Amino acid sequence: MKLIVGPSSPLLGKRISDASGIPIAETTYRKFPDGEIYVRVEDAKDDEFVVVNSLNSNDDLVFTLLVLDALSGKEVTLVIPYMGYARQDRAFLDGEAVSIRAIARLLESYASKVVTVNIHSEEAKGHFRKMVEVDAMGLIGEHYRGEDVVMLSPDRGSLERVRRAAESAGCDFDYLEKTRIDAETVEIRPKNLDVSGRKVIIVDDIISTGGTVVTAAKQLKGDAESVEAACVHAVLAGNALNRLYSSGISRVIATDTVERQVSVLSVARLIAGVL
Ligand code: R5P
Repeated sequence: MKLIVGPSSPLLGKRISDASGIPIAETTYRKFPDGEIYVRVEDAKDDEFVVVNSLNSNDDLVFTLLVLDALSGKEVTLVIPYMGYARQDRAFLDGEAVSIRAIARLLESYASKVVTVNIHSEEAKGHFRKMVEVDAMGLIGEHYRGEDVVMLSPDRGSLERVRRAAESAGCDFDYLEKTRIDAETVEIRPKNLDVSGRKVIIVDDIISTGGTVVTAAKQLKGDAESVEAACVHAVLAGNALNRLYSSGISRVIATDTVERQVSVLSVARLIAGVL
């Protein structure tokens, strides 16, 4: 068995190889001047492969597809640490594509198993038939174990995820509730806990534009001693990180499903455990 490390997961791919003992197969990938991608697996003699590549851009998807094609006829476990397109898990409006359904069909037509980390929703997961999902909330919790912090979910829907992180940290947790005061004012407050003078960690699955966390942080800043943000997938589109730090967030941490400066936690061992 060999492991192929895709261009969006170079560090994590190496870490999974180290943690699992599966050696890396040499692979060449290039981009032509017109944007087309070329892939060659140099060392394609084995019968079984693990391919590791996050889907954080359309190029990541094309690369993954081309590797899968190069491995036609082999047994492939596809590891997509960050499953992009999972937020479009249903048709919100008539005529919309269910993006994650299209991705699931495509990937599963090649791979015999798909491994991912905290896919955005149960609905998104429901579009896959051969998926194994790994949970990184415990990893986030361990990072804060022993610290006097309170973890907040940006909304009620994500509370279950945050509960798992808080249980692993051994800290209090709650969710933020939005109340409309008047036409111009929306107040966002923890539903049950008083966070005055406390160190707050806003925990989310994805930070993309940073908008969700920034809105929450702005409201908490007066009360809380400090506000940090922790997520599994640090998509951090555009200038999101600047935006987060300018809003008064004192620190952002994430796992390495998307490889960023803030990726201080690694999901390699969790993934190696299911290979
Ligand atoms: C929403 O359902 C997700 O759990 C995240 O809260 C959202 O994707 C974060 O996006 P952004 O950083 O752009 O606000």
